[in-house]
Amino acid sequence: MVMEADIVQALRSIEDPDLHRDIVSLGFVKDLRIDGGRVTFTIELTTPACPVKEHFRTLATQCVLALPGVTDVAVQFTANVRASARSQPTPLLPDVKNIIAIASGKGGVGKSTLTANLACAMAQSGAMVGVLDADIYGPSLPKMLGALHPTLSVDAQNRLIPLELHGMKVFSLGFMVTDDTPVIWRGPMVHNVLNQLLGQVAWGVLDYFFIDLPPGTGDAQLTITQSVPLTGAVIITTPQEVSIQIASKGLKMFQEVQVPVLGFVENMSAFCCPHCHRESAIFRQGGTERAAQIHHVPFLGAIPIDPMVALDCDAGEPIVFAHPDSEAAKAYQAIAGRVAAALSTRQMETAEAAG
Ligand SMILES: Nc1ncnc2c1ncn2[C@@H]1O[C@H](COP(=O)(O)OP(=O)(O)O)[C@@H](O)[C@H]1O
Ligand SMILES: [Mg+2]
Repeated sequence: MVMEADIVQALRSIEDPDLHRDIVSLGFVKDLRIDGGRVTFTIELTTPACPVKEHFRTLATQCVLALPGVTDVAVQFTANVRASARSQPTPLLPDVKNIIAIASGKGGVGKSTLTANLACAMAQSGAMVGVLDADIYGPSLPKMLGALHPTLSVDAQNRLIPLELHGMKVFSLGFMVTDDTPVIWRGPMVHNVLNQLLGQVAWGVLDYFFIDLPPGTGDAQLTITQSVPLTGAVIITTPQEVSIQIASKGLKMFQEVQVPVLGFVENMSAFCCPHCHRESAIFRQGGTERAAQIHHVPFLGAIPIDPMVALDCDAGEPIVFAHPDSEAAKAYQAIAGRVAAALSTRQMETAEAAG
């Protein structure tokens, strides 16, 4: 006879590497059924983008199969993304669980490309994802996500309906301004327009809401970080010295407004030659990781230089969709997993601290 208590005891041996507790005491194991020698159960993760999902599947199958009498194990997965303490309750986005800003010290380091690919990777994993392009200097998500001149519509409450692109809800400042009108935004205008993009767009229920911030650490960025109830920020940089210094400034800005920095990402880290398959560090490599260590910020990963990254974005299909098996796509997917894990960990820690 296979006993439920033995199965539960066996599953206690599996520890979540981010939350540092076993999956039973975390309450992840659900719907346990025993039918003769056949055991089925569900593991409910805190994010569908969980980087250790397959690892859990292997361990859970192995340890239950090792019990006497068990002939067959089937593990299912679900996810229940929990709302971060920080973004709840927010009158602007009541049903958005996590709000993540993507920031960079300067332009052209791949911030929008990261936003598009991270968001796509999360959506691919099954999460409900929204993306707001808040780059007042150069909104680029309409092109990167393939919606240059969309027709906008409103719902019954007269709220703008975000576009559905690649399984995500997307809205961009670029939908509202024409290509050749440079916009000069002053502080109060930035604040007002953001409030509109958050409050008057029908975002609905979202697990992860990504905001592509304008580059820099000046007034506009500060206004945005103060106007939006951010859960956390990801700072992207390239390996050049100057770029890393600016990233450190970005870190300081978020610390000043008490927004947790989830980590640093290094873009354009190395170039893998498509002909000889050898890697060259076009810019100096590894600087971002060292900067992260110095500032005690997690290092979330490095993205190689790959012409396909740019080509796919130019064609409106981020590389995680267009070429999911490429090294660059895998790098974006891994970073998405680490961001999701970091958010789950923070949520759990805050919830526990609050009792
Ligand atoms: N890893 C990469 N490999 C190759 N090209 C990249 C990579 N990351 C970004 N790019 C390209 O660099 C340019 C700047 O990227 P973008 O995301 O628009 O930067 P930002 O939003 O920081 O200004 C774009 O043409 C983009 O396609
Ligand atoms: Mg950009």
